[in-house]
Amino acid sequence: MESIIHLQNINKSYFMGVQALPVLKGINLDILKNEYVALMGPSGSGKSTLMNILGCLDSPTSGTYILNGKDVSTMPDNDLAEVRNKDIGFIFQQFNLLPRLTAAENVALPLVYAGVGKKERTERAMEVLVKVGLADRSKHKPNELSGGQIQRVAIARALVNNPAIILADEPTGNLDSKTSVEVMDIFSKIQESGNTVVLVTHEEDIAAYAKRVVRLRDGVIESDTLRSAHAVLGTVV
Ligand SMILES: Nc1ncnc2c1ncn2[C@@H]1O[C@H](COP(=O)(O)OP(=O)(O)OP(=O)(O)O)[C@@H](O)[C@H]1O
Ligand SMILES: [Mg+2]
Repeated sequence: MESIIHLQNINKSYFMGVQALPVLKGINLDILKNEYVALMGPSGSGKSTLMNILGCLDSPTSGTYILNGKDVSTMPDNDLAEVRNKDIGFIFQQFNLLPRLTAAENVALPLVYAGVGKKERTERAMEVLVKVGLADRSKHKPNELSGGQIQRVAIARALVNNPAIILADEPTGNLDSKTSVEVMDIFSKIQESGNTVVLVTHEEDIAAYAKRVVRLRDGVIESDTLRSAHAVLGTVV
């Protein structure tokens, strides 16, 4: 199987004045097309830093990142923006919806950047809103939606371009357990329809939805486990 994500000796330091703070230390990671990966680890271990690199929102200090066969570690910012827009759907913990736009307009936003015409934008936004069960809330603004509905709008927005890779940083962090299950069911469907899903979570029962769990500690990969097909949800084999 082909790797959609290939990280080779990735290092990331943040620079505070003259002081370098090493956060990722020699990360090697391959993720195959259509894999479902949960990224876990203590607070401060570098999960969001790694996700931002995977999502081409930030560059590594050193190392090689091959995404979908393209070396993005040396790509100029303009090309990176295009890769980001076309290949990646990013879901943040803080939902990042625009407050003045309706749910449908928020969902359609990536299509505006991609230069898609208004009619097609509206149609495609409605299609994904249906997928996440929010067809009847398309005209609501974020402050007229519940937390779980807002998160589903954010997921719909990440899906609207049909990106190969969905990256989600603690997508259920602010949700109650019932809404979390609804959101996780959406991710399972996305993965079953052929997309690659990588999500960060602190919760073992959320990680149990993924087939593979990668654990970070202090900027290194501490373990990388595949769940057997016979494993009961919640049990890492
Ligand atoms: N922009 C930044 N500048 C300087 N240091 C940063 C920056 N972003 C993160 N850090 C530091 O890098 C380390 C890793 O942060 P990161 O956000 O990747 O952790 P995390 O694993 O996502 O934690 P959490 O579970 O709390 O979200 C932390 O020690 C943090 O203080
Ligand atoms: Mg984080």
